[in-house]
Amino acid sequence: MRSLIDILELSTEEIDELVAKASDIIAHPEAYAHKCDGKILATLFFEPSTRTRLSFESAMLRLGGQVLGFSEANSSSAAKGESVADTARTVSCYSDIIAMRHPKEGAPLVASMNATVPVINAGDGGHNHPTQTLTDLLTIYHEKGRFDNLTVGFCGDLKFGRTVHSLISALSRYKGIKIVLVSPDELKLPSYVKKEVLKKNGIEYVQTTDLEFVMPDLDILYMTRVQRERFFNEEDYLRLKDSYILTPEKLVNAKKDLCILHPLPRVNEISVAVDKDPRACYFKQVNYGRFIRMALILKLLEID
Ligand code: NCD
Repeated sequence: MRSLIDILELSTEEIDELVAKASDIIAHPEAYAHKCDGKILATLFFEPSTRTRLSFESAMLRLGGQVLGFSEANSSSAAKGESVADTARTVSCYSDIIAMRHPKEGAPLVASMNATVPVINAGDGGHNHPTQTLTDLLTIYHEKGRFDNLTVGFCGDLKFGRTVHSLISALSRYKGIKIVLVSPDELKLPSYVKKEVLKKNGIEYVQTTDLEFVMPDLDILYMTRVQRERFFNEEDYLRLKDSYILTPEKLVNAKKDLCILHPLPRVNEISVAVDKDPRACYFKQVNYGRFIRMALILKLLEID
């Protein structure tokens, strides 16, 4: 039995298989409509979510399975002091697979060590978010046709943005990847990611505060929200929240085939005027999320 806690638990071959499976589901959805008949997905969300939770639920329903769960910690026994380990043991009795989001880094890992069914990390604090990365990779594959020889810019909150950490880990295994890190000084990529991922794999990277200066180099621009819920004080958040706002003017010198991604939710960091630019791919990205989660559920349940 396998869980998915960190994106690097999947080999590059397995990522290719998931991308191929998701693409087949997009082309032939009817062939998958009963693959999970009789199976139950539990979504245990101790933190807010729109896309991740609903796309997991939609994925299981479209596979013919059923879903149960909770969407806030206060409506579960966590509010009474129950441990993640006990919750995981309990929910294993009611479901075949669990997707868990938690504000504490490592909570889904603890759940996976105590559950008797597969556990999927749906975001743990400011750490990792492997299924958003699978979504990002499926989008990149459909937009660019490759995972190698890409210059990828990450802009915004690179310190607390878990989707950034997971996607950088995933990309570090491909050839010819260049990473451009754009953030205010206070929100730079954590040094453990630089050391254990970028330096360890010899990935070329630059750090800057100037988005427009690096714009012409980018094949992909991954915008992110400043993660208000991870700040220690509101003043710092207010000072940093509008550090970068992508507007049509800032895209004037960008490549014609730039691909603009954002895990969403968007707050202010991409002006709505950018939405009609053909390079804006973030709503396509939302759509891909359900299909890759369908492929992942099938894989972890060993169906097919
Ligand atoms: C992201 C998350 O929860 O980390 N959202 C998502 O899952 N699509 C990004 C964010 O909240 O800013």
